[in-house]
Amino acid sequence: MAAAILDGKLVAAEVREAVKAGVERLKEKGVVPGLAVVLVGHDPASQIYVRQKEKACAAVGIASFSYSLPADVSEEELLTLVRRLNFDPKVHGILVQLPLPEHLDPLRVITAIDPTKDVDGFHPLNIGYLSSGLEAPEPCTPKGIIHLLDRYGIEIAGKRAVVVGRSGIVGRPVAQLLLARDATVTVCHSKTVDIAAVTRMADILVVAVGRPRFITADMVKPEAVVVDVGINRLPEGLVGDVDYEGVHEVASYLTPVPGGVGPLTIAMLLVNTLELARGAQVKDAQKC
Ligand code: GUN
Repeated sequence: MAAAILDGKLVAAEVREAVKAGVERLKEKGVVPGLAVVLVGHDPASQIYVRQKEKACAAVGIASFSYSLPADVSEEELLTLVRRLNFDPKVHGILVQLPLPEHLDPLRVITAIDPTKDVDGFHPLNIGYLSSGLEAPEPCTPKGIIHLLDRYGIEIAGKRAVVVGRSGIVGRPVAQLLLARDATVTVCHSKTVDIAAVTRMADILVVAVGRPRFITADMVKPEAVVVDVGINRLPEGLVGDVDYEGVHEVASYLTPVPGGVGPLTIAMLLVNTLELARGAQVKDAQKC
């Protein structure tokens, strides 16, 4: 039987409605959630993402503050902006769009963000909290994936989950979140021997490698749940990391590209901004 579609667009719309209501409640208490988005350079894909983030904020009543810096900005100038935002009471979340130009050290920049304003959950302190099973802002794409699985009633505990890709934005944190939900997790990467043998064991397969149609039907266990995080721009349009046509005939559930994980990433950015504005993470971190 053909796979059922995990409709990220639909679920993201539900999340946005819930965030909008939460923002209204917070505004009644005199707090307007604020997100600062910092873009360095003119990467066309990054420019699109940043514009989408600003639009999404406006639609739910979150104030967004955008900073566009030239591609040759010095690291000190960028760090000065981040430090200023750390002390700006109107800003509850700070997002520096990645990747950064070559001459800038992403770790130095991310580490300069106040961990209590780290809306991406990329600060090493928050990564540490998360991998210790403690509360921390959860990176948006992984958080969106877990939300999508939950929304469709897909059991995670006890399942064998395989993550293909070990990036700091998706692969590593999604592995942590699946582990925190009691999945048995394996992470594959470019040096993994016989990836197909590993992916074929997956009940839940998450793919984030940035290689068009990398996962083919023969690499998927019948009835597996397949989450495609890839967004590859080809002449024929946007294509995921999963061969949709083939895998659609094997999997039980599958995310489309576009309209799968992508919309949830932005929806979860709104959720994280709202949560940071509520100070929930701050309180939880202090309890630890
Ligand atoms: N570039 C691609 N995805 C992301 C993301 O989730 N956050 C940031 N900051 N940059 C990205």
